[in-house]
Amino acid sequence: MAVTVKTPEEIELMRKAGKILAQVHEELGKIIKPGLSTRDIDRIGEELIRSYGCEPSFKGYQGYPASICVSVNEEVVHGIPDSRHYIDEGDIVSLDAGVIYRGYHSDAARTHGVGEISEAARLLIARTRESFFEGMKYAKEGNHLHQISAAIGTYAKRFGYGVVRDLCGHGIGSMLHEEPEIPNYKCLRRGIKLKAGMTLAVEPMINLGTEDVVWLDDDWTVVTEDMSLSAHYENTIVITREGPEILTLTESEIIDGVIEDL
Ligand code: MF3
Ligand code: CO
Repeated sequence: MAVTVKTPEEIELMRKAGKILAQVHEELGKIIKPGLSTRDIDRIGEELIRSYGCEPSFKGYQGYPASICVSVNEEVVHGIPDSRHYIDEGDIVSLDAGVIYRGYHSDAARTHGVGEISEAARLLIARTRESFFEGMKYAKEGNHLHQISAAIGTYAKRFGYGVVRDLCGHGIGSMLHEEPEIPNYKCLRRGIKLKAGMTLAVEPMINLGTEDVVWLDDDWTVVTEDMSLSAHYENTIVITREGPEILTLTESEIIDGVIEDL
């Protein structure tokens, strides 16, 4: 299926799905603390999603068994919540979630530090987020998709980080994963031309060490090959003529953030 341009009605539903997901992330960010299990986070997240009248996008998706992907430290993405895995002071915890509102998806991820974390971890989280906003400078009608990809990858590599190549962002809409694939690194080709109304999930995954990742035996959890820390930051956006409209930010993220700088 080709890349689709959404109607204003579809975008309105995705806006709603996005706002709800932003709220879910904000609330999950507040409850993360040492002693909570990754399964507790999933359970609370699922309850929140349902309390807003949405369905969790991930539950049952290709057999994924939970609503929230919880990936701790060297886990890059798709960590499976586990009632025996307790969050510890000093951990970094990536939460990835998606919600379906009246048939339309939003998808977003945040990485949180738990209590006191190392300076290296703090910078990794901040710069992974910044790399997303570097990409956003090019997320505008008439530009090419891989301008976003190159901006993300080039920014992250400045710090010597490993930019994950084995996983990408994606189009999103009535399905969680739609075309196009959105790499987080500079590509040889320029990619599709961006049009107003395209909806995309842009999601840099950045490692403190090597870019290489491996899959655990559960066939889901992706970890860094060298066991170095990894951070993830993702938002669902819609391309407009003026630039990106970022659908999965809370009001406070919009005010504190760098949106005005785009
Ligand atoms: N944001 C993740 C992705 O786009 C969501 C994982 S989907 C899962 O791949 F349901 F399969 F976990
Ligand atoms: Co995604």
